[in-house]
Amino acid sequence: MEKQAERKVMKVIEGARYDVPPIWLMRQAGRYLPEYRATRKEAGSFLDLCYTPDFAVEVTLQPIRRFGFDASILFSDILVVPDALGRKVEFVQGEGPKLEPASAGDIARLVDEHSTSEAALEHLEPVFETVRRLRSELPAETTLLGFCGAPWTVATYMIAGHGTPDQAPARLFSYADPDSFSMLIDLLADVSADYLIRQLREGADAVQVFDSWSGVLGERDFGHWCVEPMRRIVDRVRGEVPDARIIGFPKGAGVNYRDYRKATGVDALGLDWSVPMALARELQRQGAVQGNLDPMRLVAGGDALDEGVDEILEGLADGPLIFNLGHGITPQTPIAHVEAMLKRIRG
Ligand code: CP3
Repeated sequence: MEKQAERKVMKVIEGARYDVPPIWLMRQAGRYLPEYRATRKEAGSFLDLCYTPDFAVEVTLQPIRRFGFDASILFSDILVVPDALGRKVEFVQGEGPKLEPASAGDIARLVDEHSTSEAALEHLEPVFETVRRLRSELPAETTLLGFCGAPWTVATYMIAGHGTPDQAPARLFSYADPDSFSMLIDLLADVSADYLIRQLREGADAVQVFDSWSGVLGERDFGHWCVEPMRRIVDRVRGEVPDARIIGFPKGAGVNYRDYRKATGVDALGLDWSVPMALARELQRQGAVQGNLDPMRLVAGGDALDEGVDEILEGLADGPLIFNLGHGITPQTPIAHVEAMLKRIRG
């Protein structure tokens, strides 16, 4: 009988280590690839790309074909969840996402209309088809990751209606009307958990939850808006899929990384590049870590890239490590630098 292909990323999440760590990159399908730009043009709008399985499967597979990464991440966006809840999202070229800012009244209506996740998941049906097709088209040794945004990060866009440098609108809303904000966070936690459960059932091997804006919160608010909803998601997912493997990425959490794994129940921790090596090593004694090269080192290339890669390998490759960036790859990244990085890691 043929030997079962080994999915290294899954093994590392479960605590294994490899001399050559498995690698994938956040936003690995994206504008730095000419083949992505071509498909994106053909699809028309960004959301059409996300919701058309033919296109979404194609762009998900592009970086796997080109670089042979150890994991593939479903091509979609964290803002498909508010879109599925009826808060229409638009991606304006060069400006990022745009939504109608949600008021307290809008939140009350949303909670009323979505007592179950059924309607939202119905809207996301094309995403589930993409997951099914990916699992059958990917190489057997490639881990397929599903994902969603964490409630706090998704809420920041829903409240402001667009990206901001510090998420002041959502922070202000959370202090001015904590009851409405709490209802929004709970709704997002439950719908997101149900969305992840479906992704896992349709073929995702593991899921990652992106809390890209957790770094703007004070200690108490981090506990309230990042840790508690993440625990709620993990418990709800494991209630349905007991062996679900979950990567948490509380970007910018700083010393709050220390208790995050235990407090939320996630299996693996995604680290941003500001996490000091001593803390990263301490976190790795709890379990797998993922990260954490500064994406700008990958843009710069040369010595900056080599130094960054070597530091991570020297500091973390003796334990369970998934090599990644500390945040998403940016459009100006030269493809040759991605190749150089892979060569340095894999030899
Ligand atoms: O390859 C992958 O990693 C999978 C696809 C993926 C995208 N977005 C595609 C995308 C994933 C995992 C995301 C997550 C996401 N989306 C996050 C969390 C991670 C992070 O980067 O902090 C956030 C905050 C978003 C919201 C979002 N989507 C913003 C703010 C923007 C505009 C900024 C930008 O980079 O353009 C997007 C658009 C987006 N999502 C693009 C891609 C490839 C670019 C859109 C385009 O092609 O025109």
